[in-house]
Amino acid sequence: MARLRLAVLISGRGSNLQALIDACAAADYPAEIVLAVSNEPDAAGLERARRAGIPAETIDHREFSDRKAFERALDWPLAGADVGLVCLAGFMRLLTPWFVERWRDRLINIHPSLLPAFPGLDTHARALAAGVRIAGCTVHFVRPAMDRGPIVVQAAVSVEEGDDAASLAARVLAAEHRCLPLAVRLIAEGRVRVVGERCEIAGAAAPFSPLISPSPSGCG
Ligand code: GRF
Repeated sequence: MARLRLAVLISGRGSNLQALIDACAAADYPAEIVLAVSNEPDAAGLERARRAGIPAETIDHREFSDRKAFERALDWPLAGADVGLVCLAGFMRLLTPWFVERWRDRLINIHPSLLPAFPGLDTHARALAAGVRIAGCTVHFVRPAMDRGPIVVQAAVSVEEGDDAASLAARVLAAEHRCLPLAVRLIAEGRVRVVGERCEIAGAAAPFSPLISPSPSGCG
């Protein structure tokens, strides 16, 4: 079967892009990255793509008069490369309904919280301030409202005593690197169906044991 053609949109470090690059290196992975685009010219992720032989380009939003013009410029290479799924992986621009609708159910985002909790920026600091004991990440189809849309994959991690935003972010990021390739795989295998703004996933098995935090075994 033909591999699903991915574009990955980034703005910075690109560690989630790297997770996808690594997943795509496996012969049996059902997707391939055909394009990486950054809105920031010095995004480190661009170099990761180039090292992997993936066409990588910058489309700098500052060079456009408005969002619509920027998004048209973004859309052009995606359509030209016959992209089947667009992955927002640390892409720090809000997309207008025009772009989101154009790529409806072919556009996913990864966010470092258990949505719908803590959408937006400073996620980890807000989660810690709220005192949550379990944090996590979400891969979801994109809708016009920020960090909203049908959920494909989530992972939960525990919050540890003494965590700060950086240590929690690092733990969540490790989970992100597993969730994004998994979500892409499920979509590429045709197992994900959006029904009434929820995802149905064919053959999905949920883990048996709950994640309890703090661990009951440490609480005598
Ligand atoms: C990740 O935490 C992602 O969830 C968020 O932005 C961060 C991007 O990290 N949307 P990287 O550029 O993939 O390393």
